[in-house]
Amino acid sequence: MRLANKIGIVTAAASGMGRAGALRFAKEGAAVGVADIDQGRVEAVVAEITAAGGRALALVGDLRQDEFARDIVRRTARAFGGLDFVWNHVGHPGPAAIEGIDMADYELAMDLNLRTVLVTTETAIPEIRARGGGALLFTASTSGLVGSGFSPVYSMAKFGIVGFVRALAKRLAPDNIRANAICPGPIDTPMLRVFVARPDQQQAPGDQDKEALIIRRAQQVPMRRTGKPEEIANAALFLLSDEASYVSGAALPVDGAATA
Ligand SMILES: NC(=O)c1ccc[n+]([C@@H]2O[C@H](COP(=O)([O-])OP(=O)(O)OC[C@H]3O[C@@H](n4cnc5c(N)ncnc54)[C@H](O)[C@@H]3O)[C@@H](O)[C@H]2O)c1
Repeated sequence: MRLANKIGIVTAAASGMGRAGALRFAKEGAAVGVADIDQGRVEAVVAEITAAGGRALALVGDLRQDEFARDIVRRTARAFGGLDFVWNHVGHPGPAAIEGIDMADYELAMDLNLRTVLVTTETAIPEIRARGGGALLFTASTSGLVGSGFSPVYSMAKFGIVGFVRALAKRLAPDNIRANAICPGPIDTPMLRVFVARPDQQQAPGDQDKEALIIRRAQQVPMRRTGKPEEIANAALFLLSDEASYVSGAALPVDGAATA
C-alpha cells in the first residue's frame, strides 16, 4: 500500500476529483479527513471508505470560515494521532467578466482558491513538521500555467497557487515537507459544467446544452477527451506518496497534452 500508516486531509472531498482522491488514498492505507460543505455527500464518502475497511473522518463545514479551515487540521490530527499530508483541493471558478465584474463573486473565488488554502496550510505545517516531514498538495489548473481568456480571475488565483507552491517548496525543504501543485485540464465533474457554459469564440450565442459543450470542449484537448476524476487522483497519489520523495515545487499538468 502506497500510503500505509499515513494520515491526511482532502478538501472539497465530497465530489469530483477530491472524492476520487479520498477513496483512493484510503484504499492505499491512509486515514483520511474528508472536508466539504456538503454534509450528505461527505457522509457518503466516509461510509464508502469505512465499508471497505478504511479509516475516514467527516469534516463538514464552510472552508470560507477561517476557523473551519483550521479546525479540519486539528480534528484530523486529534482523531488519528498526527498529520502527514494535505490535499488543498477546494477552489472556485470565479467571475468570467472583467468589465462589470461582480466583486462578491471575486471575493468568493479568492477565498476558496487562496485564503482557505493559506489558512489550512498555516495550521498544517507544525503538525506535519512534528511527524518529521510530509507533503502538501494544491490544486491549481492549466489556467494556472497559461492564461484563460474566458476566466481571467480564475487564472489570477491559480497562478497564485503555483507561485505559493514554488515558494513553499523552498521554504519548507529543510523541514522535509514537500509542496506540489496538480494542474488539471478539463475533468468531468460538476465544476466543468460551470466553465463550459462561459462564452468564448467556439460557442454559439445562447448555446446552453452543457453536455454538448463538454463534448466540444473535449475536442480542443489533444487527446480528444476530458479527464476522469480518478486520473487526477492517480497523479495526486504519486505526489503525496514517498515515491515522490525528491519532487517538490512542481506544477504537474494532467491535461491530455493541452498545455504541451
Ligand atoms: N473540473 C475541472 O475541469 C477542473 C479543472 C482544473 C482545476 N479544477 C479545480 O479542481 C477543484 C475542484 O474541482 P472538482 O471539479 O473536483 O469540483 P466538484 O464540482 O466536483 O466539487 C467541488 C466541491 O467543493 C465543495 N465546496 C464548494 N464550496 C465549498 C465551501 N465553501 N466549503 C467547503 N467545500 C466547498 C462542494 O460541496 C463540492 O463537493 C477546484 O480547485 C477547481 O478549481 C477543476
